[in-house]
This record gives sequence, structure tokens and C-alpha cells, in this order.
Amino acid sequence: MVDGSVPVAPDGLRLKAEPTTAQPGLWLSPEPVGRVLRREIVGRTAPTARASLDYLDVSGPGQWPAPLRGPVPSSNASRRPARAEREHQVNHVDPDDLALWPTMRHLFPLWWEQRRLAALGLSCALAFTGLSLAIPILIQRTIDDAIDGGDRSLLAPYLVAITVVAAIRFGINFTRRFATARIGIRVEARLRSKLYDAYLRYPRAFYDRHATGEVISRATNDIYPVRYFIGWGVVQAIQSLMMLIGAGIVLVLVNPKLALTAAVSTPPIAILTYFFAHRVFPISRDVQRKKGNLTEASDEAVVGIEMVQAFGREDDVRDRFGNRAESVRHETMRQASVEARFLPGLVFLPTLGIAAVLLFGGREAIAGNLTIGEFTLFVTLLLQLVWPLEALGWIINLGQRATAAASRSFAWLDGIESLPEREPALTLPDGPLPVRIEDVHFRYGTGGEVLRGVDLEVEPGEIVAVCGPTGSGKTSLLHLLSRFYDPTEGHVRLGGLDVRDVSLAELRRAVAIVTQKPVLFSVPLRENLLAARPDADWSEVLDACEAAGVAEFVGDLPDGYDTLIGERGVNLSGGQRQRVALARALIAGSRVLVLDDPMSAVDTETERHLVEHLRPAVAGRTVLISGQRLSTVLVADRAVVLQDGLVVEQGLPEELIRSGGPFAELFGEEALVA
Ligand SMILES: Nc1ncnc2c1ncn2[C@@H]1O[C@H](COP(=O)(O)OP(=O)(O)OP(=O)(O)O)[C@@H](O)[C@H]1O
Ligand SMILES: [Mg+2]
Repeated sequence: MVDGSVPVAPDGLRLKAEPTTAQPGLWLSPEPVGRVLRREIVGRTAPTARASLDYLDVSGPGQWPAPLRGPVPSSNASRRPARAEREHQVNHVDPDDLALWPTMRHLFPLWWEQRRLAALGLSCALAFTGLSLAIPILIQRTIDDAIDGGDRSLLAPYLVAITVVAAIRFGINFTRRFATARIGIRVEARLRSKLYDAYLRYPRAFYDRHATGEVISRATNDIYPVRYFIGWGVVQAIQSLMMLIGAGIVLVLVNPKLALTAAVSTPPIAILTYFFAHRVFPISRDVQRKKGNLTEASDEAVVGIEMVQAFGREDDVRDRFGNRAESVRHETMRQASVEARFLPGLVFLPTLGIAAVLLFGGREAIAGNLTIGEFTLFVTLLLQLVWPLEALGWIINLGQRATAAASRSFAWLDGIESLPEREPALTLPDGPLPVRIEDVHFRYGTGGEVLRGVDLEVEPGEIVAVCGPTGSGKTSLLHLLSRFYDPTEGHVRLGGLDVRDVSLAELRRAVAIVTQKPVLFSVPLRENLLAARPDADWSEVLDACEAAGVAEFVGDLPDGYDTLIGERGVNLSGGQRQRVALARALIAGSRVLVLDDPMSAVDTETERHLVEHLRPAVAGRTVLISGQRLSTVLVADRAVVLQDGLVVEQGLPEELIRSGGPFAELFGEEALVA
């Protein structure tokens, strides 16, 4: 129903759209008299729009015509979710990035898991700092005692001491880098596997909302900065701070006044660092986001390359990619320009300290208040501080990138709800499982209702075909059985239990599904067949392959059942893929079988074979099958017709053909031939 529209009934009756308080959404109110409540009437109104009506509020003279069949206004807006509900639906699969502190709170435990390596790294950093301070002190002593003091015999021992200390420092530096690099690599791997684990649990709605490229890039490229920051940045930052403090102490002990002079550059460095961090953080976040968009665009073109080439969309795709690449370039340039403005300052400022020491320390040395060795110590230590100060700037920059990246990953880890599972879960009863669908309503995310109150019962041993025009909601209905989605209202029951009360693992063991576009794993055919039940008897597998028509083509495959199926089964044809998927579902041995258009890609001859063999192969199970061809549907004991998310007709397929209703309309000429 379209708000406020006035569709016209075939006999000229005017229908008025009216919101009612009793029921959210809009109801049709024809002008003639009468009041029909809770009656399903499918009326012919606007030529292209389709809908069916639950309630009719009829007022004015005349009679509402007997139930009509045919297109009626679309009811997609029949029950729009409230704004808050819509926002929740979106937020729970697309949460905002986390702020800085929550990100840190999440990163810390990952780092803490590597505390042994971190302790090794930090001990090395401490030792490295100590030795780095020792070398200038030894140089100072060499100058003061041996060179200036004139005791030549001390020269060689000091030289040896300096060389030994430097060699030890080399070993420690090596160990530190080794340990910290491992921390980074492990934290990155942990974060990646956490994300990947989460991906496996996320509801389908998440995948409807996010492009493949975005999902992949968040678990790959996006988290590199985390590795570099945690691996190199954190320990380097601590080492730099140790070096600053250690050098400060040594300098103060030697000459407090000169040490204070040398510290002249510290406040401007602190201020510059603060502004740098402040400026670069939002840009880093944008760069990260835009890189994700770029991966998304490139992924789209690669996945859809056939269509891109077939429809000559190369220019479009190139433009889209080009625009996104350009915006990554633009943003990265902004980042580079901020870095260019701030980082040289961070390198330059420490030399001011050295200049101050040369000026004031030089005077002191000339006046004899400072030995040449002490003067050299000041200069050497300050030169040694240039890198730690510069590194601090880099580390802050890297930290910004890492937290920007991690904040996006943690937002997903934190904010996306997996399908809720009841604790403790109920156990399905033993034996055959009847399926009961009770007043089920369903919509995708914030869209209009796709199922609008479906009732359906399937007994064990019964095969029910769900038919209906394309887009009528067949796939959507069948997916509810495996809980790919949950209904927005109503219940899907298996053996009397709501599927939400059973653990997902048990549910998915009980329900085997052949999806409309089956996906095979990139493993040998044998493993694909055994995917759901690796311990199945080989004779059972062969029977299923016979019934599903796999046996027919397996001989043509280079290695028979051991043939490696290419990525997503590309080296099998569409029809062959469908047959493997069907065999896989039969082998699963589940009590409920859901077959979503399982024969759409096979020729009529093969279909005849499948239909013939399917009945005995599924005997005793509860089977729901959807199909677009009468020959597929005829395998069923009963057919139900879905139209605009409602069951409009059901019965024996042969009878439905005779009755000339929607079923007969649907299969049109096929029915005549039959
Ligand atoms: N993931 C999705 N997100 C949003 N809307 C969807 C999604 N999948 C399907 N829809 C919409 O839901 C409606 C019903 O689709 P569904 O796939 O259930 O139809 P169908 O009866 O299986 O059609 P077909 O015969 O073509 O397979 C359609 O309007 C479709 O656009
Ligand atoms: Mg479908």
C-alpha cells in the first residue's frame, strides 16, 4: 500500500487508504458499505502494485465484490517499523567505531596475553637504555682520565670496555626487536582470528549490510597498523621514555644548571607532539575508512567481472575505483602534509638543546667549571636523545593509525549481536519432526514486510512445495527454518519447539538445506559431499549421488570423487553444482530437508530423473521444496502458493491445476500441457 494513494478496483470501486490506530500502517477502505474483518481478500486495484488485505473497513452503500484474484497495491509499507526499531535493526549490524579509551581497553588484554614476550622486550629495553647511557659515560672517562688526564695506559682498557658494552647492546637490541616483533605479529593474528570467528557467527543481516570487500579488508589490511604499533611502537615508546629519564638523571648529576639549559627544547616538543596527535587522529581514521571503501570497489569488480565485461561496464567500474582511489590519495596526502609540518619540527627542536649546551657548556668548559669529558658527555647524550624524541612523534602517529583501525574492528566485535541462543537450550524430540509455521511475519532490516502472516504445517514424511511468483518470499520463508534470519513476528516450530529455543548447532543438524545458489567448498568432491556428515557410510554417499544425479557426471571428472572443486565450484557447471548440493543435503541425513529451487539449473531430462529418485531418497523426512517449474512441484504431496508474503492457496498440485486458481495461473501453459 502506498500512503495516501487511491487505487481503483476493477469494477470501478474506489479504495481509500486510511491509517487506523487499531493496526499500524494503512488499511484500505472502499467506499461501499459493510465491514469485513480478518478476511483475506486479494483485489484487483492499481495495475502494477500488489498487496493483499487483512482488514477491510467498508463503509457506504454497495457490496464489496467476492474475493478477487490478481494484482493489488503493494503492501510493503503495510507495517513500517518504528524509527527506534529501525535504528536498532541497523545499529546491531552496523555499529559506530569505538572511541579511543574503549579501543585501548580492548587492545590491552590482547597485549597482556603476550606479557612474557612483553616482559622480555621491556627488560631488553631497560638494559639497552642502561648500556646506551653507559657508553657516553665511558667516553667521558676516557677523555677525562686518559686523553685529558694524560694516563695513556687507561686508553686501551676503556676502548675495550666501550667495545664490549656496545657488543652487548647489539645483542640486547636484537633480542628486543625479535621479541617485540613477535608480540605485534601475535596480537595481529589474534585480532584477525577473533574477527574471523565472529564473522562465522554473525547473522545474515550483517552480510546484507556490508560489502564483501569491507568485511575482508577489516580482517586483513585494516589491522596492519595494530601490528606495527604493538610490535614496535609500544616498547619503543617505553624505551624512549626510559632514555629521556635516564639521560635527564645523568645530566642533572653531572651539572644541574647545564641540564636545565639543555631541557630548553622540551616544552615546545611536548606542545608540538600534542598538536600533532590531535590533528592526525581524525585523518588516520578517514584514511583507514577510505582504504576499506577502495578494497570494496576493487572486490566488486573482481567478483562481478563477468557482468562487468558482458555489459561493457569497465568504464563505470574504473571510474568508481578511480574515485575511491583518488579519495584515498587525497586523504593520505592530507595525512602526509600534517606529518610533513610536524615531524621535521620534532627532529629540529632537540638540536636547540644541543646548541644551548654548546653555548653555555662551552663557556663553562673554558672557565674550567666543566671538564672536556663532561662537556662531551652532554653533547653525546643529547645527540643520542634526538632519535627517541623523533621516535615519539612517529609512535604517536602510528598509535593513531592503530587505534583508528582497531576501533573499527572492535566496534564489530563488540557491537554486532550474533543470533541469540536460548540458555539452556531445549532439545528437539527424537523421531520425525513436523514443521509448523505460525503467523510468521518477516522483513529484511528496515525494508517492508516480505512475509505477512504465513501459516503452514508440514508433517513428517510429507513433501510440501512452496510456489509463487518470483519475489513472493519463498526463499525468505525457507531460510527461517535454518534460522538464517528470525521472523519479526510469529513462530517457526520444529517438533513443537520454537527454533529459537533450540541450539543453533542442533537446529542445523536437524535441517539440511540446498540454497537457491549453492556454494561448494574449494576441496575435493568427496569432502563436499561429506561436509555435513563426515562419517557417513560410503554406500550411503553413492546412493545419494545416484538419487541426486551426481553419479551421472562423476565419471567425467578427472579424478572422480577426488576431483578438487575450484573456488566456489567454478569448474562445475551450475546444474552439476546443484546436484552436488542436493546430494550433500541428502547425505546429511537430517530429519528436515529444505530444497530451495534445487533443480532450476538442470535440463528437463535430468529433472525427470531427479524427481523420480527424490521421493524414495527423502522418505520419512519432512521436506519443503520450492520450485519455478511444474515438473519440480509435482514431486510434492501438497503445494502452497505464496503471493506477496501470504499463502493464498494450497492443496494437491493436480487439484490446484484443475481449480484454475493462482497455482494454475502461475504454471500457466505448463499446466495445460500437463
Ligand atoms: N537479503 C535481502 N535483503 C533485503 N531484501 C531481500 C533480501 N533477499 C530478498 N529480499 C527481498 O525479499 C523479497 C522476497 O524475496 P525471496 O528471495 O524470498 O523471493 P523468492 O520467492 O524466493 O523469489 P525467486 O522465485 O526469484 O527465488 C523480494 O522482494 C526481495 O527483493
Ligand atoms: Mg528464491
